[in-house]
Amino acid sequence: MKEQLIKQAIAILNENFQEGGFTIPCKGLYPFQWKWDSGFIAIGQAHYDIEKAKTEIATLLDAQWENGFIPHIIFHNESDTYFPGADVHRSDLSPLASKKYKSTGMTQPPVTGFVLEEMYRIAEDKEDLLQYIATQIDKVYDNHAYFYTHRDVNNEGLAFIYHNWESGTDNSPIWDDIWKTMNPPDYTFERRDTTHVDASQRPTKREYDHYLNIIEIAKEHNYDDAKIAAHSPFLVLDPLFNAMLIKSNESLIKLYRLLGNTSKVAQLEAWQKKSIKGFNDKLWDDKLNAYVHYDLRKDAPIRFVTSSSFSAFYAGIPSQERADLLLQTMMGKFGGEELYLCASFDPNSDRFDPKKYWRGPVWINMNWILYNGLKRYGFNDVAQRVKEDSIALIEKNGFFEYFNPIKKVNETENVGYGGNNFSWSAALLIDLLK
Ligand code: GLC
Repeated sequence: MKEQLIKQAIAILNENFQEGGFTIPCKGLYPFQWKWDSGFIAIGQAHYDIEKAKTEIATLLDAQWENGFIPHIIFHNESDTYFPGADVHRSDLSPLASKKYKSTGMTQPPVTGFVLEEMYRIAEDKEDLLQYIATQIDKVYDNHAYFYTHRDVNNEGLAFIYHNWESGTDNSPIWDDIWKTMNPPDYTFERRDTTHVDASQRPTKREYDHYLNIIEIAKEHNYDDAKIAAHSPFLVLDPLFNAMLIKSNESLIKLYRLLGNTSKVAQLEAWQKKSIKGFNDKLWDDKLNAYVHYDLRKDAPIRFVTSSSFSAFYAGIPSQERADLLLQTMMGKFGGEELYLCASFDPNSDRFDPKKYWRGPVWINMNWILYNGLKRYGFNDVAQRVKEDSIALIEKNGFFEYFNPIKKVNETENVGYGGNNFSWSAALLIDLLK
């Protein structure tokens, strides 16, 4: 069974691999290279074809801008199955954009640092991989420098996101109250996602108007970060995004030491200290006993518990005492017998929707982050359950993009939603099974 699943997963990844040296997340639905997808994909590839994993990350980093920024989508090819495409995003408006690749002007969670460390852990020929890392690591460092220089408006070690698509958790209910502060035009456009996936599992037209409106505002300012920070209606500190940055700092420190190149270590350690403190001071909610998002526009926390709240385990952010509380919150709200771990949004909230994208379903990349984070704190039983639930969902339903967390429904119907043959579900299952 295990061998069979791994074989299937490899077939999916090979099928989604493209000539330009990158892997698409999903045929039809996502036909380009996505930043954090590429990272998770490389972890899976490293288990059976390390050269492919190296290429995946090298291609991603090749699209870096002059200021260290790495875009969330790189439009390697002309594809009209996707909206909004390169002509909407117009990365050329920024004088700092890559001249070689068209891309978006927004980013995604900074996973690349820890992905390099994972590749090193998995690789058989460590010496060879270290040589490869030596050719790439400064680009990842420059990306972190970009976040600390241009995205940390209050100088507290936390990077802001200016668009929900930068979070990776695209239509989370977390953003609902921000949409209420905006009144975007009723844009005319033809969506493509709903030609691939049932509309009931995707965001609404009105939600898309908001998404496009933020892009238009950023374009008016030619993707200048300072101006975006001043004018974007959406400006948020996201616990998942910052946990990925912190975890990646830690990996860069380890890898630079392994390389015997310590010139950047002191700076990384300084960032790391500041970020962990900022994260614990600003994002911890004493009443909810969880990390939450923070709305910089309103200067107020967004008080909901999501699977992003638990990503802090992976980055070693909470003290053991706080980690115990966080685990209690997780199991109390998300851990009932009737549920698969781990729903993406608080199942007790009236905003929870078990079928809709990031408003409730289980995602395999979040489960992978959780599994590794829980193990880091010695919560081995819960980690094991997260792993088994992930495998069970894929085994029963297939390599879908997201899954219904309610077990009862799972008994009677197929509960895999969104895209099928989804790359990171395949890649991370390989890693969980190995
Ligand atoms: C969806 C997800 C995002 C992912 C992208 C490509 O937009 O919300 O996190 O990167 O698909 O798979």
